[in-house]
Parts: sequence; structure tokens; C-alpha cells
Amino acid sequence: MPQFNDTELTAAVIESFEKTPDPRVKFLMQELVKSLHDYVRKTDLTFDEWGYAIDFLTRTGQKCTASRQEFILLSDVLGVSMLVDAVNHREREGATETTVLGPFYVGEHKVLPHGTDVSPHNVTGERMFVQSRVTDLKGKPLAGVPVDIWHADDDGHYDSQKPDYEVTGPSSRARFITDADGRFFFRTILPCSYPIPTDGPVGEMIRQVRRHEMRPAHVHFLVAAPGYEPLVTHVFIEGDEYLDSDVVFGVKDELVAKIEKRTDALMPDGKPAPAPWHLMSYEFRMKPGKGTAPKPMLAVAEDA
Ligand code: BEZ
Ligand code: FE
Repeated sequence: MPQFNDTELTAAVIESFEKTPDPRVKFLMQELVKSLHDYVRKTDLTFDEWGYAIDFLTRTGQKCTASRQEFILLSDVLGVSMLVDAVNHREREGATETTVLGPFYVGEHKVLPHGTDVSPHNVTGERMFVQSRVTDLKGKPLAGVPVDIWHADDDGHYDSQKPDYEVTGPSSRARFITDADGRFFFRTILPCSYPIPTDGPVGEMIRQVRRHEMRPAHVHFLVAAPGYEPLVTHVFIEGDEYLDSDVVFGVKDELVAKIEKRTDALMPDGKPAPAPWHLMSYEFRMKPGKGTAPKPMLAVAEDA
């Protein structure tokens, strides 16, 4: 019967994975054991603390439903989602920076004509015109590229969080296809900062450690051009008070856009403008490569 001191125990558990047929699985499991054991040793974890962690993770799992992914939210607020993004996008070579997909991507948005107002008029907020272009790293326009966009409305919720979403359908969410010059444009409202869902264990943790739950105002973009790495990113609104303290650590300087306040009577497509309005201009540079566009993260609604 083997008897282990704490370091021999770690070595024995690492050794127990030696026969794993898949070398990547073996590596991942052995490194996980090393990190977990180091954590327990460094912190002298008590039984009460270990029990609390087990209960917290159990409740995190119990909070997950077909429409709520509390584990991804946990990964987001611990910076793990952004770290996975960072290690997978180390060399950008001038391509647009990436950030988290987030839980409110529902996939396969409906294609709308350029210029469409994606925020119906029952959504209040200051009006914004978004004009954009998709190019390769040398600035050559990419035509026929699907671009999904989505953002929160001015009460800080996504359409998919609302109980009547299945009936009312998408709002502040659409797909545009770039034209021959790689351009697309649409009308919407100026989004505002909003809280992540806090009615579960992640919210409990955020409150206990005195962090805030806010994300700075942004529009999500998913650009999926064949022959290029799918680009998952946001454009953030300059001046937002939460840019330096995003609860999911998703802000990068390059993704913060100056939004111009305009009073012109016409919007850039020559159609009448409500006064005043805002103009967001942003270009996306795509990196050659492969990859499939990410799938929705399941979480679409805040459960009551
Ligand atoms: C979002 O931007 O939609 C989001 C990202 C991570 C966690 C919660 C929301
Ligand atoms: Fe968002």
C-alpha cells in the first residue's frame, strides 16, 4: 500500500496518466493536476474552503440550462476566456484584434439590406449610423463577406434575454453581406454599458469580492470570410466609464472607436437623419487562414 507525502502524491497522480493514448489529452491532464496541486499547497486549502469550492462549482453547473451557460460566464469573469483568445491569436500581423464572443450570439443572423435600421422604434436611444469595410491585410476590399452584428439596447439587455424573444424576434441583431468595395452599413442606436447576468453563483462571487458587474458599451461583430480566420470582436464606444475595468477583461485599445456626434440633415447614405445622431466608422482587417466561425454559446436568456 503506497504512502505519499504531498509532493510524492502529485508525482503519483501525474504518473497515473502515463498510459493515456492521446498525447495532447495526457499533457492537458498532467498539467491540470500540477496546477491544481500547486494551488492547494500554496494556499494550504482548508476543508471548509475546499467544500465551498465544490458547492460553488456544483451550483454553477446547476444554473446552466439550454439558454444559460454559467460556466462560460465564470470563465469570462476570471479572465480565462480572454486568455484562451490571447494564446490563440498571438501574431495578428496587422489584422484586427479579437475579443470574447460572449453569451448573446445566437448564430445565423438574418441577412438584411445595407442601411436597415436594426433597432425598431420601440427601442429607445440615440440614433447611430455604422459604416464599415472589410479588407485583407494590404487593404484590398473583401466582397461578399457575411458580417454578423449584435448589441444591447439602451436598457442594457440583449433581445435574446427578453422573455418574448421567440415571439418578437431579433432586434439590434442582423447579418450584412459586404458589397464589391467590402463595405456594409446600417442604422441602430448608440448602445450603453450593461451588467452581465448576476442572478447566479458568478454574480454572488462578483459581489463578495467587491467587483462591479459592468461591460463598457460595444457592438459585437463576427466576420467570416472564406480563406481568412474568422474574426470575433467588438467595437467599443470611446469615453465609456467602464473601458478600464470591463468585468470580462475584453477591451483592447485598438477596438475603441471615436463616435462622432453629427447634426447633418442626411446620413452617409443620403437618407434623412434624426437630429442629432452618431457616426461609428470602423474597418476590419482579416488575417489569411482557416477556421470555422464559432457556434453560439447556448446562453441566450437570463433565467428568472
Ligand atoms: C457580451 O459582451 O455580450 C458578454 C461577454 C461576456 C460575458 C457576458 C456578456
Ligand atoms: Fe456584449
